[in-house]
Amino acid sequence: MTKRTEARPATHDFLEACRGKKVRRTPVWIMRQAGRYQPEYRALRKKHTFMELCKRPELATQVTLLPVEQLGVDAAILFSDILIPVEAMGVPVEFTEAKGPVLAKPVRTARDVARLAVPDPQETMPFVMEAVRMIRQGLGGKVPLIGFSGAPWTLASYMVEGGGSKSYVGIKQMMFQEPALYRALMQKITATVEKYLLAQVEAGAEAVQLFDSWAGALSPRDYRTLAAPWSARIIKRLKKTGVPVIHFVYDGGGVLEQVRDTGADVVGLDWRVDIDVARKRLGKKVAVQGNLDPCSLFLPERELRARVREVLTANAKLPGHVFNLGHGILPQCSVAAAQVLVDEVHKFKL
Ligand code: CP3
Repeated sequence: MTKRTEARPATHDFLEACRGKKVRRTPVWIMRQAGRYQPEYRALRKKHTFMELCKRPELATQVTLLPVEQLGVDAAILFSDILIPVEAMGVPVEFTEAKGPVLAKPVRTARDVARLAVPDPQETMPFVMEAVRMIRQGLGGKVPLIGFSGAPWTLASYMVEGGGSKSYVGIKQMMFQEPALYRALMQKITATVEKYLLAQVEAGAEAVQLFDSWAGALSPRDYRTLAAPWSARIIKRLKKTGVPVIHFVYDGGGVLEQVRDTGADVVGLDWRVDIDVARKRLGKKVAVQGNLDPCSLFLPERELRARVREVLTANAKLPGHVFNLGHGILPQCSVAAAQVLVDEVHKFKL
């Protein structure tokens, strides 16, 4: 008698859901699913800097695989950071405990922009592609691997501001006072991101997510004319590879339609918009990802489970839903709460 094979796990439901297909159960992963809320991650960070974890493929692989085992999520996401290609373009990046990323030599002038490289990812970031290959091997087909990049506007804002920002005055001044310089900067970043994501796909990434984490700071008009077209260019090229593209604009409730119109397969939603309202606005042709408030993980278990069901119920069993938080999981959360979230999503009857 042949050995009875396990029923194929519902894992590849993630890729099917990204493509708007019907699935047996709603797939789930969590933004920042590998990170400081995990004791194992914190233990590794005692021995290595964050950049070491990003740049040593065996460590990046180990960290990427942690939540797949621990939470039973339906996708892995490459462990890295959106600022890795910024460094490869020639802008030094430092991760500080207190202030997050710091770019000590921000990009402000025509000379600064002229000096920026459009790097060959294989030459300047080989560790990323090596990590992608090692992770695929480690996953053994169990769940798909998501690659990612920051979107041009968010990367530009880091480069011009020199770090995080509250008002984005520096980048907005450049946009409005020196539009040609802004365009030259966006051109270089867009070319870099496009090559970088294509290299990840070539190495084995099975979906990609573009993070436009700070584009919510733009008015809808400026998002449409000054940020979205650059993301759209990247998405158009990536879609030729056949991998699904997820586009997440944090605080993007005011520009959902424009995010969809960049051509992404999946629109990421934060928690400031109700998923049923978002789906009505977006129409049937696009999938969505989200959108539980990350702080829901602080609720007592029963209430957390109820909140998870609320999101699923509001989606009204429409195909094309990938469950996620509305932003990254916070370091203060417990692994147990993340496990409850995944469990409740998986229990939900479609
Ligand atoms: O989702 C994942 O699990 C993959 C890993 C990942 C990280 N950063 C790890 C990380 C991803 C996809 C990112 C993307 C990223 N990085 C974004 C876009 C997503 C978002 O949150 O909107 C942004 C804006 C960054 C820039 C960045 N990196 C900031 C602002 C910080 C400091 C704040 C913080 O959370 O610590 C980082 C550092 C960072 N990136 C950490 C991790 C796990 C913490 C580093 C540490 O161990 O100290």
